[in-house]
Parts: sequence; C-alpha cells; structure tokens
Amino acid sequence: MGKVIAIANQKGGVGKTTTAINLAASLAANDLRILLIDMDPQGNCTTGLGIAKEPGMATVYDALMGTQPIDAMIVNTEFDGLQIVPADKNLVGGNLDLVDMHRREYRLRDALENIRGQYHYLLIDCPPALDLLTVNSMVAADSVLVPIQCEFFALEGISQLLDTVDRLRESLQPDLKLEGVLLTMFDDRTNLARQVANDLKQFFQDDVFDTIIPRSIRLAEAPSFGKPILSYDVRSRGAESYIKLAKEILENEQRNGSAS
Ligand SMILES: Nc1ncnc2c1ncn2[C@@H]1O[C@H](COP(=O)(O)OP(=O)(O)O)[C@@H](O)[C@H]1O
Ligand SMILES: [Mg+2]
Repeated sequence: MGKVIAIANQKGGVGKTTTAINLAASLAANDLRILLIDMDPQGNCTTGLGIAKEPGMATVYDALMGTQPIDAMIVNTEFDGLQIVPADKNLVGGNLDLVDMHRREYRLRDALENIRGQYHYLLIDCPPALDLLTVNSMVAADSVLVPIQCEFFALEGISQLLDTVDRLRESLQPDLKLEGVLLTMFDDRTNLARQVANDLKQFFQDDVFDTIIPRSIRLAEAPSFGKPILSYDVRSRGAESYIKLAKEILENEQRNGSAS
C-alpha cells in the first residue's frame, strides 16, 4: 500500500505547492510510482505540471462527490512515474457541498482506497485553510508534512494546525503521524532567516527535516514552464534540495519500517 502524505499549512505562500510538485518528481526519479492529488481549488499543482484545465474535465471534485471513480481523472505528467489527479475552480464549492454528505471527512480516503496499492507514494497538496478539504486530506493521509517559510511570523498559526492534527488523531485518523516540518525559502544571506531557522529547530527539535529548501528563483520559475525543477534545471540548488528531501523521506521510511 502506498504511503499517503498530506502537505499542509493553512497559511498561503509557504511553499506547499512547490514542495508537492518537486518532492513528487524527486520521489518518482527514484523509480517509484507517485500520485499527486491537487486538493487546492487554485489548481496550482495542476497548472505547474503543465496540465491544461479543460472545461468539463474530470477533477478531484468529481472523486469527492463520488460521481466518478478516481481512476477516471488520473492524468500522466511529462515526468516519468508521476501522475496527477487535477483540480480546478469547481473545487471552490467542495467545502459547502461536502457539509451535508455521508462520511464527509472520509470522501478522499474512500476515493483513494482502491488505487493506493498502485503507487509507492501519494502526495496531497492542501489548500491554504483548515477547511473540510484539508480535513479530508489529513484523514486520507498516513502523515502530514508541514512547510514553514523562514520569516518572522513563521510560527503564527502553527499551534492551530498542530491542534487540528491532534484532534484528528483522537477522532477520525488515530494513526496520523507528523512526517516532518520543512523549512522553505531559506535565504542564508540574512540574519533574520538564520535566526528564524534556529528558532524553528529549537521548537520542533527532531521533527524538523535536516534538508532545508533555499530561496531560489529557478524554483519559482519552473511552474510557469509546466515542469518540476528536475526537468527545468536539475543542477540548481533548488533541485538539489528537493532530491535531498526525497532521500531523507525514503531513509526515514526504511528506518521506521514500511508504511503498510
Ligand atoms: N524555495 C523557493 N524559492 C523561491 N520561491 C519560492 C520557493 N518556494 C516557493 N516559492 C514561490 O513562492 C510562492 C508561494 O509558493 P507556493 O509553493 O505556491 O506556496 P503555497 O502552496 O503554500 O501557497 C510561489 O510564487 C512560488 O513560486
Ligand atoms: Mg498552493
């Protein structure tokens, strides 16, 4: 059974989507089969991997509503081993539509059940909110990866996020783990970034990944070409850092035994 990792932080602009796309590609580069699930109505993962949003195309929204099986909406990307379940703005209404549905927090988990076995990892890119879409993502997940930007208000809102994880553990998903906290957009030329990184390491201790994602123009450019950084500029520091993150996750997995 593939391991499901939700990439979550209710703050926008912290590097969730960048991490989802590039970690997914870096894991796939290890000869693994990876499914990326776009759970953000902005559909940035979808566009960032060069998938055109056609009117009427099947998206994750249809899977949540149960109108089509999730197999129907899996799309190949240009990157070997990496497939995606796309999202578009239809998902905006998803929160409201889910409220009255049967097993409303389990819709994504249920949708993924039959296909989990086909992948090594399934990564979910969450929206910037602690809404029903994020709850569905976490309930479907084995673990949560939290990107945090190395800036002054880094910890703001984090206790709310961790409270949500704790609540889900006590109720809907008792096995939910913290995959790790990922420091992103680190600029080693500024004292502030170094100070924030140190504070975050003190706060989260062993839960922080050793790998730190540097601020890199190349990482920001890649999605406009519809490519992960591994295709766009494999020699960049940004590419190097996501390759290292994938390695760290695979090593942690080996140390802790397999997910299934
Ligand atoms: N390491 C990085 N270096 C430079 N720019 C980055 C980096 N990570 C993300 N960005 C840029 O910052 C913005 C927000 O990142 P994104 O991954 O979309 O965050 P989120 O999904 O959390 O909203 C985007 O424009 C993205 O290209
Ligand atoms: Mg995003």
